[in-house]
Amino acid sequence: MVKIESFGKTKSGKKVFLYTLNNGKAEVSLTNIGAAVVSLKVPDKNSCLKDVVLGCDCALRYENGDKYLGATVGRCSNRIKNGIIFLNGKSFQLSQNEGDNQLHGGFEGFNKKLWDAEIIENGIKFTYISPDGEEGYPSMLKTEVSYILTGTTLEIHYKAISDGDTVCALTNHSYFNLDGVGNGDILSQYVQIFAEQFTTNDEHSLPTGEILSVKDTPMDFLTPKQLGADINSDYEQIKFAKGFDNNWVIKNYDGKSIITAAKAFSKHSGITLEVLTNLPGIQLYSGNFLDGAGIGKKGAEIKNRSAFCLECQYFPNAFANENFPQPVLKAGEVYDKTIIYKFGII
Ligand code: BGC
Repeated sequence: MVKIESFGKTKSGKKVFLYTLNNGKAEVSLTNIGAAVVSLKVPDKNSCLKDVVLGCDCALRYENGDKYLGATVGRCSNRIKNGIIFLNGKSFQLSQNEGDNQLHGGFEGFNKKLWDAEIIENGIKFTYISPDGEEGYPSMLKTEVSYILTGTTLEIHYKAISDGDTVCALTNHSYFNLDGVGNGDILSQYVQIFAEQFTTNDEHSLPTGEILSVKDTPMDFLTPKQLGADINSDYEQIKFAKGFDNNWVIKNYDGKSIITAAKAFSKHSGITLEVLTNLPGIQLYSGNFLDGAGIGKKGAEIKNRSAFCLECQYFPNAFANENFPQPVLKAGEVYDKTIIYKFGII
């Protein structure tokens, strides 16, 4: 059963909805603005449901916000240096919404679009058609994002097709706090990333092309580590971003298989999260730029380091770095990627 409620209106007066699915074990609320996850309630060790993602109470806050809370990010997630991409030997100038660079699809990325919604078995399918030239991207892109809730697992399936060669690199930008949002910061929560390497950034958070081993660095999350352990380290990568904000190279990526990229847990709540994907990279972002601004659910402040993201993705700034997998979707090909958030108890 899906409960459909009003979620307010966009600035231009279009109605927005909140879709809630509850299967007796977990509950997810989704909205068609940004095809975003608004809340995700899973049981803690005492069987109490805890909402483990940041979100807001109405559509306008998503439209006016700049934190991508729970949103679908596209056409290209994360940063592109100077907003320039290359396709078939031709360069294209995209919109530059973060200084000279593009971040998360431009000024009005997929996170700000009003998607069509359709109820499917155990879920909702959102559809958006991005016209040729939107934010500078060539060709039309038809995108479907399906959320499916089974038990305490939320699967997100991405499908896209284009009428010409283009870029497609979608992600979900959920911010997690496994103690439940509003219950302090995430510094005591543990994260494990199945990656032996990470991509290094310049001071503008743009990958330089260098891929380094995590060995003997604070970027080593091969065994579970508390986020607070190295977050204030003077390691250059961490200083640049005021915390963790890099892309890790997922071990055993083969382009097809859906594999475990990361795990996280809180000893306090007992809630565990496993992140699976068939994408090549994962961004650990420790909420360094959350600043107390923006009103969260029930009027709560969204405080610094009050949640973390584990964004499955193509490596950022791939067009400037030929050694990275290229997020190119050819005309007629089907973009077919999956991100899974699987919850449990320690
Ligand atoms: C990026 C951060 C950025 C945040 C925006 C993350 O995906 O890695 O650098 O500040 O999104 O909210």
